[in-house]
Amino acid sequence: MTSTQEGTGLNVTYDFTGRTVVITGAGRGIGLAAARFFHAARAVVCLVGRDGARLKEVADSLDGARFAEVDVTRTSEVEGLVSDIVSDTGRIDILINNAGILRDRMLWNLTDDDWDSVLAVHLGGPFRFIRACTPHFRKQHFGRVVNVTSYAGIHGNVGQTAYAAAKSGIIGLTKTAAKELVRFGVTVNAISPVAETRMITSLPDEQRDRLRSIIPAGYFAPTSDIAWALAYLASDQAGYVTGTVLPVDGGMSI
Ligand SMILES: NC(=O)c1ccc[n+]([C@@H]2O[C@H](COP(=O)([O-])OP(=O)(O)OC[C@H]3O[C@@H](n4cnc5c(N)ncnc54)[C@H](O)[C@@H]3O)[C@@H](O)[C@H]2O)c1
Repeated sequence: MTSTQEGTGLNVTYDFTGRTVVITGAGRGIGLAAARFFHAARAVVCLVGRDGARLKEVADSLDGARFAEVDVTRTSEVEGLVSDIVSDTGRIDILINNAGILRDRMLWNLTDDDWDSVLAVHLGGPFRFIRACTPHFRKQHFGRVVNVTSYAGIHGNVGQTAYAAAKSGIIGLTKTAAKELVRFGVTVNAISPVAETRMITSLPDEQRDRLRSIIPAGYFAPTSDIAWALAYLASDQAGYVTGTVLPVDGGMSI
């Protein structure tokens, strides 16, 4: 079960040979780390995002990886992609719903467009992808979905009304989809991460320091730590784990 790929710097103790993985928001941050991890663990990886040039660059660095410029808010693009993947690879096994945007403002400054855009990406995206994948999961009698929620979705966060509502919605989506799909051999889980990505590095110093001060571990995780958690929930061995929200947050949610 141990596979080490030369040159990646990764010692990976998962083997996803024969599994096709779709990762949204795979051009950078957590999605990029997940793409590298699943590739090192021998999965067929499909990178999804809005920036085709960036995705191509990443896919070129991961032998055999494919990419698709798809906006997760557009049903026709999502359904077209899922059907192309199944035609090309014969299956779709693992779905990592990771794409995200921020439109942080106090509630009284939040526009309809901010609200709609954040909900459409964070909550609508996972819904569209799960719905599109379900017929294929059912045929295979196998599927693994991992959604990405947030501390804000559980506890709320000042300046993040729309984001917190969407991330909270993901938890309801995860639990309900888990109950509906488990009969077809499909698990649906979520993680609640904290990782050093642009979402964190772009914060003003003072805000970033304040955030770090409430993490018992005292640091922001490297994105590869988050990939390990995604891999566990995506593994064959996690078949009895469904409907959970796994904090990967250095203890912040304790
Ligand atoms: N970094 C953290 O500490 C943290 C904490 C809690 C939750 N999260 C969640 O983790 C996920 C990844 O976060 P990250 O920090 O890597 O962020 P990031 O901004 O680095 O990456 C997000 C990716 O999503 C893509 N994306 C945005 N809108 C899209 C759309 N409509 N269609 C397709 N792709 C789209 C972006 O292009 C980008 O590649 C997000 O859902 C975020 O809310 C992150």
